[in-house]
Amino acid sequence: MNNQNQVFLDFTLKTAKKAGELIIKILESNTVNFKGDDQNNLVTQADLESEKFITAAIKENFPDHQILGEEYGKTENQSEFMWVLDPVDGTNNIAHGHPYFAVNIGLIQNEEIIVGVTHAPKLNETWHASKGAGAFLNDKQIKVSKTKTLSKSLLSTGFPYDRKGELYEKAMNHYHNAMQNSHGVRRQGAAAIDMAYLATSRLDGFFEFTLKPWDIVPGILIIEEAGGKVTNMDGSKVDIYAENIVASNNKIHEEIIEKIVTEC
Ligand code: IPD
Ligand code: CA
Ligand code: CA
Repeated sequence: MNNQNQVFLDFTLKTAKKAGELIIKILESNTVNFKGDDQNNLVTQADLESEKFITAAIKENFPDHQILGEEYGKTENQSEFMWVLDPVDGTNNIAHGHPYFAVNIGLIQNEEIIVGVTHAPKLNETWHASKGAGAFLNDKQIKVSKTKTLSKSLLSTGFPYDRKGELYEKAMNHYHNAMQNSHGVRRQGAAAIDMAYLATSRLDGFFEFTLKPWDIVPGILIIEEAGGKVTNMDGSKVDIYAENIVASNNKIHEEIIEKIVTEC
C-alpha cells in the first residue's frame, strides 16, 4: 500500500472506532425521531452525534477534502478527495437494541474508492480495505466464499423504506425468487454489514434496491478486494451512486441476476 493510502486508512480506522465508542455511550439514553412523515424511517441522536464527530475529525485532518454524509449532506468545496460516510448503518436496529449496526466510512479519489472501513462496535468486528491491498476483518485477511451455485448459497437483502411503491413489490418478488433458489435469505437491517459479511464468506450473495453511496462505498471496495463482485442489477459496472445492486462471490453472480433480479 502506498504511504498516502496508509495515512488515510489509519485515520479512517481510528475515527470509525472512536465514533463507535461514542455511539455505544449514547445508546444508554438514545433519543429516536422520524425523518419527515415516514414512521419507518428513523434518525436517532447517535446518528447525528456520530456524523458530527466524524466530519469534525475529517475537517481537522483534511480541511480541503469534500464530505458526503447521510445526515448533513455534502460540503460545497471542490477536491479530488471525497469522504462518504454513514454515521450509523442500521438505525432501526439501534433504536430496538439490536447489535447489528456499523459506522461506515469510505474515501474516493477521482471517482475511485481508495479506502473503506465498516466498523460494527457491538459485534467487535472491523472490516477494512484499501485499493490493491486486500480486505481484512480485525486485521486478518478475508476472501469471498467458494460456493459455485445459487442453489447452495446463503443470501442477504434489505427492503426500501417506502413500503407502498412499485419497488417494494419488486423487492418482495426478488425475496421470493431468492427463497426458491437458495439455502435461504437473511434480512438483518444493515447493508454495510451484509456487504462485509459477504466479503468474509459468511454470505454468498446480496441484492437490494434504493441504496445510497454511504451504504455501499466501503462495501464495494471490501468485497472487490476480497475477490468478489458488485454490479448494477443488469450486470453493468457500478459507480458510487448506484442504487440497485447485486453483490456476490463472483461465481454465482450471473445466476443471481438471471434467477432473482430479472425474474420478477
Ligand atoms: C439502511 C440499512 C438497511 C437497508 C436500507 C438502508 P440506515 O440504512 O442499511 O439494511 O435495507 O436500505 O437505508 O437507514 O440504517 O442507515
Ligand atoms: Ca445506511
Ligand atoms: Ca444511517
